[in-house]
Amino acid sequence: MTAEHEITLTVNGTARRVTVPGRRLLSDCLRHDVGLTGTHVGCEHGVCGCCTVLLDGQPVRSCLTFAVTVDGREITTVEGLAGPEGLSPVQRAFAECHALQCGFCTPGFLCTVTALLRENPAPTDEEVLEGISGNLCRCTGYQNIAKAVHRAAELLAEEA
Ligand code: FES
Ligand code: FES
Repeated sequence: MTAEHEITLTVNGTARRVTVPGRRLLSDCLRHDVGLTGTHVGCEHGVCGCCTVLLDGQPVRSCLTFAVTVDGREITTVEGLAGPEGLSPVQRAFAECHALQCGFCTPGFLCTVTALLRENPAPTDEEVLEGISGNLCRCTGYQNIAKAVHRAAELLAEEA
């Protein structure tokens, strides 16, 4: 029998207590145990970045993370990016620049870009490409996404 572990994750500001087997992936835990299906799974082995969430503010691949290893930590998923005022500047910029692509890659891009702009509020073109290089789109492209990162930087600067 697989041992089960009771863990508490703070997801988008709310403490969630769940019981999971030791090998439960964070991506599966978020989707199936916590019920937040915004986080998507593409490759399931750390390549595509679809499953990116923020762990204590840093982007991580939730498909490479065992849920038990993040007991007690803060997780932000795509559902937690908007605030009481509505969509976040990154989300608004993606909408404005037509960078909201498919439901698989977009949640990961939004989380990655949110963290990128916290660390580097005014990235160059090269830094944007480097910053999103761990998130793959297999069908559309990156031009509007790169534009949206610059636009999000402007919106964040206006808000600051
Ligand atoms: S699903 Fe996690 S990196 Fe592809
Ligand atoms: S993988 Fe989402 S638009 Fe290409």
